[in-house]
Amino acid sequence: MENPFRYGEIVTGRAFTDRRTELAELTADIHNGQNVVIISPRRYGKTSLVFQAIDGLKREGVLVAYLDMFRTPSKDRLATHLAQSIYGGLVAPFGRLWQRATDVFRNLPLNPKITINQDGAPSFEFAPGERERDVDQAIEALLGLPGQIAQERQRRVAFVIDEFQQAVDIDPHLPAVMRAVFQLQTEVAHVFLGSRQHLLQRVFTAENEPMYRLAKPLPLRAIPAADFAEFIASQFASSGQRITGEAVERILTATGCHPHDTQELSYFTWEMARSEGAPAGASTVVRALERVIDAEDARYTTLWEGLSPYRRLVLLSVASAGGNGIYSQEYRRQHRLGAASSVQRAMAYLLENDLVESTPDGAYHVPDAFLRAWLQRLSVSQPIKRP
Ligand SMILES: Nc1ncnc2c1ncn2[C@@H]1O[C@H](COP(=O)(O)OP(=O)(O)OP(=O)(O)O)[C@@H](O)[C@H]1O
Ligand SMILES: [Mg+2]
Repeated sequence: MENPFRYGEIVTGRAFTDRRTELAELTADIHNGQNVVIISPRRYGKTSLVFQAIDGLKREGVLVAYLDMFRTPSKDRLATHLAQSIYGGLVAPFGRLWQRATDVFRNLPLNPKITINQDGAPSFEFAPGERERDVDQAIEALLGLPGQIAQERQRRVAFVIDEFQQAVDIDPHLPAVMRAVFQLQTEVAHVFLGSRQHLLQRVFTAENEPMYRLAKPLPLRAIPAADFAEFIASQFASSGQRITGEAVERILTATGCHPHDTQELSYFTWEMARSEGAPAGASTVVRALERVIDAEDARYTTLWEGLSPYRRLVLLSVASAGGNGIYSQEYRRQHRLGAASSVQRAMAYLLENDLVESTPDGAYHVPDAFLRAWLQRLSVSQPIKRP
């Protein structure tokens, strides 16, 4: 039997659970041509949610272009991937004739090199080394295409831009260019996704920012415990393994219902139950958690090594004591943190990089449950097992 849990990849279908409200809301917004921005911590299921929505929308005749800005660290790559995703999502559904590809891109300020793959589908490339101004103009023209296609075809178009924070990194002027083009595209629903929460919230909600009020925020929370519990139990049952109610609860307490972390810990718990040939109980989860932290050790070590000693100290104190009243004299003395201004600077860094998050009651916490456990292990100075 195959392990029914999946993590680190986009999940749809049977590996996808809950999100009924968000899915209905997102689908309705796209049908209405409403722009949406989905901001959440890393690995909360933004991309999976959008893919699940896209599945349904395509069947209803909506044209969808999906651009992952994670793959576009430079402008010529952005132009290349833009062309590719516009062609794949908005042009190819009307026939794969390569003639179409040249038609669509003929009027651009720069023409991409078009190659025809073995399966007859074209691929595009804007070569590096073109004049920056020309590339900028090509990008602007490409961004305008979804609107033109929607009008020509009389179809609703959804244009999804994943890892949108990269836009700011590639060129601080890019969001303003996008706004200028997008606000004229009334037939297109623009969907922006991103995980640098601080940066994105600012870009979409601060009055002097280019994306101000361009899109409706759709918050994505952890999956409700009851739904996740049912999901874990049924994935175990349908794959021929058993798990106790207590063990399910242990998993969810350890992960705080974080989607990715819950799937990861469930995966390890399932493997352990299989190798031991016994139902998973609470102690199985405890051992599985140790395994997960071992598996994540390399990643956390790199992260740790990238921090200054002082930032490490502040992070450790938040992980162990919760950071409640972190700027108070009492707290700073207890954790030997020194001046309040130094704590403020370190916290600004940790918050900006999402290593620490503020909680609704004004305290702070380390949102990554496994990092929290790793830090706790570090502070009680248990030897860290290395493979
Ligand atoms: N609805 C869901 N049901 C079950 N598991 C989910 C769900 N959504 C996300 N997950 C889990 O979370 C993981 C991350 O999902 P996904 O890549 O969609 O998140 P993301 O927010 O786009 O992440 P990133 O911030 O890295 O872009 C998935 O591999 C899966 O394990
Ligand atoms: Mg994603």
